[in-house]
Amino acid sequence: MPNSNPYDWIDRALNAIHQAKWYRQETTFDGAPGATIEHEGRSLLNFASNDYLGLAADPRVRQAAIAAIEAHGTGSTGSRLLSGDRPIHRQLERAIADLKQTDDAIVFSSGYLANIGTLVAIVGRRDLVLGDRYNHSCLRLGVAAAGATLMDYEHADPLDLAYLLDRHRADFRRLVIATDSVFSMDGDLCPLPQILELAELYGGMVLELIQMGTLSKALGSLGGYVAGSAKLIDFLRNRAPSWIYTTALSPADTGAALAAIEIVRSEPERRVQLRENVAYVRAAIAQLTAAVPGRFRLLPSDSPILCLEVANVATVLRDGQALRDRGIFVSAVRPPTVPTSRLRLTVMATHDRSQLDQLIAALGDIAAF
Ligand SMILES: Cc1ncc(COP(=O)(O)O)c(C=O)c1O
Repeated sequence: MPNSNPYDWIDRALNAIHQAKWYRQETTFDGAPGATIEHEGRSLLNFASNDYLGLAADPRVRQAAIAAIEAHGTGSTGSRLLSGDRPIHRQLERAIADLKQTDDAIVFSSGYLANIGTLVAIVGRRDLVLGDRYNHSCLRLGVAAAGATLMDYEHADPLDLAYLLDRHRADFRRLVIATDSVFSMDGDLCPLPQILELAELYGGMVLELIQMGTLSKALGSLGGYVAGSAKLIDFLRNRAPSWIYTTALSPADTGAALAAIEIVRSEPERRVQLRENVAYVRAAIAQLTAAVPGRFRLLPSDSPILCLEVANVATVLRDGQALRDRGIFVSAVRPPTVPTSRLRLTVMATHDRSQLDQLIAALGDIAAF
């Protein structure tokens, strides 16, 4: 019998993570989410939230979650196919299908589970998934769980995708091209028209057109969905294990998402304000990067996610802390989450002009050192 402790490797692995400066930890916030958040008794300006439209603390969304709990309790108490189905689940799925202009939709307990379950359902060992190199972790894990072959094409590069299709398509049964729409750690968009053209040419499905989305970000709730044809959704209800074998989305999350969709529909001005805020910050950052060349590089972005690439891990950690000292919270992201270290800023519709100006002033301040 070996006399070493079979769990010793965890210590060694943790040490290696620390040495590589890859160790990550939660930062805990108090109070409700919004343009400002409470941390250790201080109020910080929040430029790290996925709640782009400011709905996670909206009184109408909160009230809908409370009403759903009052009507249906706190837990769904079973999977959708057994005892967990409630009328609000179908109402939410119909509302999503309406919003996305598809026949139908299916809601999962998270976006992460939506992608895994969908891939496991639609591909297997004889199939090929071509994925953008920067795709979200759940797409990668979904392909692995499905047992399909994953090949990465260079980020947002249709030429590389075409090259791989030409070389490998014929060796496989089904083909899926899987891409994030908005790359969450960069902020740029996938080249959808070219991807659709290639998918048609090579007889592939597109896991973007089989539209997967999250309820956990702009809708201020928790959960994920797939929207698509009636047949696809019917098939997923029968074959997506992360939907079949897990407890149905909670009443509170379901009620909140339904209310949020209604607000998104009836208040388009929120999206207009978000776009204005993003344009304002982006223009100011462009001026700053021109004034202090080499200090930050603004990565290409077409979304509320703006990433400032910096020299290395030590710099991003120092910059993140320096911003926090100035009352501003942004995410400092670094390998292994992303290939290069960067400050990841997310702009919200509910930031006011003076809050945006404080961010810009603080970035100007830290650019000087
Ligand atoms: C591109 C992408 N896909 C999937 C997910 C997972 O969604 P969720 O947070 O609802 O699990 C996220 C965000 O976390 C994402 O940015």
